[in-house]
Amino acid sequence: MEIERIRALRERALRELAEASTQEQLATWHARYLGRRGEITLLLRGLGSLAPEERPMIGRAANDLKEELQQAYVRQETAVRERELAARIAAETIDVTLPGRTPRIGTLHPVTQMIRDVTNIFAHLGFQVVEGPEVEYGYYAFDALNIPPEHPARDVWDTIFIESEHEEIVLRPHTSPMQIRVMERRQPPIRVVVPGRCYRYEAVDATHEWHFHQIEGLAVDERITMADLKGTLAEFARQLFGRERRVRFRCDFFPFVEPGVDFAIDCMFCRGEGCRVCGDSGWIEILGAGMVHPQVLRNVGYDPERYTGWAFGMGVERLVMLTYGVPDIRYFYQGDLRFLQQFDRIVP
Ligand code: PHE
Repeated sequence: MEIERIRALRERALRELAEASTQEQLATWHARYLGRRGEITLLLRGLGSLAPEERPMIGRAANDLKEELQQAYVRQETAVRERELAARIAAETIDVTLPGRTPRIGTLHPVTQMIRDVTNIFAHLGFQVVEGPEVEYGYYAFDALNIPPEHPARDVWDTIFIESEHEEIVLRPHTSPMQIRVMERRQPPIRVVVPGRCYRYEAVDATHEWHFHQIEGLAVDERITMADLKGTLAEFARQLFGRERRVRFRCDFFPFVEPGVDFAIDCMFCRGEGCRVCGDSGWIEILGAGMVHPQVLRNVGYDPERYTGWAFGMGVERLVMLTYGVPDIRYFYQGDLRFLQQFDRIVP
């Protein structure tokens, strides 16, 4: 009768094993039959209480069954593992023919592009590119540039001041302080251009930002003349805005130059006819310039009898606006990609 029980146990175990289709079900099955408290284990342990004459036959049957179930378990376990693996591979199949995703690389800000264009032109004309501090002493921003404390012209640069107990410290309202810093450190000949960020205490509107960029230029040497200034600026304008550009110099005033000029080009949109961009004048003012004031040369210890020079300063945002017809300076610093991505020229 014991042999009948073993046969029933075998059938039940094999049937359940065949139904186990996951690792989890297999583990449960293994615990139930082959585990430390599994039915086969208990069966073998119970052999001792059998009658001695029954023992050999029942014992062999029980051991055979254990052997058979162990092998069946290994087969089933292998089959389940392979099926699960195949399912996973099928689920994770990669379509290698799918086109890759193009990474989105940024573009250079239009102001950066313009600074590079302008400084490149001057670099090829023999100018060195230097940069200076945005937080500046009042001395460099004004005094050394021939703008004394009570001078009304000081109001022209609506300055943002940094609180300070001792020296007057400002956010530079123009790049001209770098004229002084460069001349203090070097002896002529000097040819530099200085791109940089500037700040003004300004109500923001379509043509005014409280921060913006300028590019300063300075050339000092023996026998430097106004003619050099005119030739250099004309060449610059023609490289940037087209060989056919006509140029215009008119008198203007800046405390640190004498004489001072404003420099204009004929409007490249209407070729001087008069249009919306040039305000019907036919001319577009590009920058301020002039011969370095003798007092400024004296302030840095140069002998104005020996050395002469000229300087110029231009607004970078304004140049971009003119070149591309940007109607509002506020677009530059709103971080709106719809605006910025229109300037997607790659500059090396
Ligand atoms: N610094 C002047 C400005 O901010 C521009 C300028 C520079 C004029 C150099 C003359 C010479 O308006």
